[in-house]
Amino acid sequence: MCGIVGYVGESEKRQILLEGLKELEYRGYDSAGIAVISKDILQSFKAVGKLKNLEEKTKNFSANGFGVAIGHTRWATHGKPTELNAHPHLGKESYVVHNGIIENYQELKKRLLQKGVNFLSQTDTEVIVHLFEDYLSLLKDSFKAFEKTIQELEGAYAILLITKIEPDTIFFAKNGSPLLIAKGDDGIYFASSDTAVIGKAKRAYYLEDGEWGYVKKDEITLFDKEGNKKELEFKDLPSDKLSAQKDGYRFFMEKEIYEQSSVVVDTMMGRVLEDDIHLDEIKEGFLDGINAIKICACGTSFHSAMAASYLFERIAKIRCDVEIASEFRYKEPLLSKDTLFITISQSGETADTLEALKMAKRAGLKSLTICNVDNSSIVRESDVALLTRAGIEKGVASTKAFATQTLLLWIFVLFLAKKRGVVSKEFLVNEIKAMQMLPRVLEVSDKLHEKIHRLSKRYLHGHGFFFIGRDIFYPLALEGALKLKEISYLHAEGYPAGEMKHGPIALADSNLFTIALMPKTMLYDKIKSNVEELSARDATILAISPIEFELADDFIKTNFSSHPMIEFFEMMVILQLLALEIAIRLGNDVDMPRNLAKSVTVE
Ligand code: M6R
Repeated sequence: MCGIVGYVGESEKRQILLEGLKELEYRGYDSAGIAVISKDILQSFKAVGKLKNLEEKTKNFSANGFGVAIGHTRWATHGKPTELNAHPHLGKESYVVHNGIIENYQELKKRLLQKGVNFLSQTDTEVIVHLFEDYLSLLKDSFKAFEKTIQELEGAYAILLITKIEPDTIFFAKNGSPLLIAKGDDGIYFASSDTAVIGKAKRAYYLEDGEWGYVKKDEITLFDKEGNKKELEFKDLPSDKLSAQKDGYRFFMEKEIYEQSSVVVDTMMGRVLEDDIHLDEIKEGFLDGINAIKICACGTSFHSAMAASYLFERIAKIRCDVEIASEFRYKEPLLSKDTLFITISQSGETADTLEALKMAKRAGLKSLTICNVDNSSIVRESDVALLTRAGIEKGVASTKAFATQTLLLWIFVLFLAKKRGVVSKEFLVNEIKAMQMLPRVLEVSDKLHEKIHRLSKRYLHGHGFFFIGRDIFYPLALEGALKLKEISYLHAEGYPAGEMKHGPIALADSNLFTIALMPKTMLYDKIKSNVEELSARDATILAISPIEFELADDFIKTNFSSHPMIEFFEMMVILQLLALEIAIRLGNDVDMPRNLAKSVTVE
């Protein structure tokens, strides 16, 4: 997602900022900007798109001699990826860069608007700089003004602020979003991730939540939440950039599995309220006359669509068909204009999905996409885009994209159900309560990961895997099987549990591994008897369930929950970790499995 860099020192600042931002590119962004104060001159530059656009814009700019500088790469959340929305944000004579979400920005903005402050962007960040300047005009002291400002902010933030009033200083604050200060031979650096400073500095201090302060030439002053002065304890920085990008995880896929707990917060932000669902992207009237849903997608995105199809029919009471995009394209489908055509895509560039969308548009259907990449081809081609906000996904095997797609589809189902008047307020509030549990449900505990690691050694051979489930757990079984085959190269199939006896059970023997998804809240007794049939034929069973199952050879106990979607997401993490641990034991390159590409832009 977004990236921050900062520098206080004598070296040329444009180069330092651009190099730092380049190291953060892997996190994904859609615009970038820098601001520099040197020799009392304040200058800033912003550009939409890749860093080369910012490089081009600043090619005649350089700032040597003592000064302060801040830079940012932005992944759009509040407002489109435009220059006005790009950071740094300007007040009258100060600039701010920010990662995170200011939850009370609307309230603060309202107050500042009443005082006549002019806002240029649609972002939450801009309130920070105006609030600071408002306090500055009142208190005539930039330190006190900064302290007052951060005391008012609610939410998550990593902030760097510079002002012409204090041209030798960078003010900083951290709460919930990462930020570090590093000491280099030529000055003091800031960054949201250590990759940006490796090679420039050898030691860094990783700020803790609630900490804030300022940096001047050779001077760092740090305060804790209560305003007490603190000593900085510097640690050695890692020397390897790639492993630093992985934040200590062995693979990007592993890191992305762990990130799920935080990215779902971004997916819900501004959309899932206490007792209501809002989708600003869907304008009044857009869904009028829609009586059916058709979803097209590929791979993991297709599995997410399949899971959602149960929710569309059960909750929103609307017919929903799901098709693999490459099949849809050539079947001469019958399309009617009262159908909303939904595409799902992490990359937004999958050729089959894009072509399916173009076909639907030619037939006059309204279109909506659930996508992770703004400005991608599918987003540009669609009437409405709901962005999943998962951040860049590097592992070829999709994980956090699946989690955020499924969550966003669930949100959309509730939005549609409310609009169609088929759910009560009480039902909606219950669903929202379940959704709000997701960040916790998706947290990976050491205990769970260790258990799956130990268990994985028993699943490295055999003649294949069947992942079985029913209802929404059937698409989850498909996804579990896809994850495993993509990175372990073992044969795995997902199957509806009730269908096993219609053929596949012929394969059952002790070398057939069955991964059984046995949620408490969804057809438990039915799936139990399906698994018993397999066990009676000597299949090796790994059961995943909150209810002990005595016929299981291996058992992963999930938490008791009263909501099927909570069970769904909890089991999803288990399946992802299982695939990961098996593939690691087999010595495979988890992030770049053989024969696969992250984005399939060809037919
Ligand atoms: O970018 P998309 O979501 O459109 O990609 C679709 C599939 O290619 C993708 O999900 C693929 O199956 C992944 N490798 C799954 O892990």
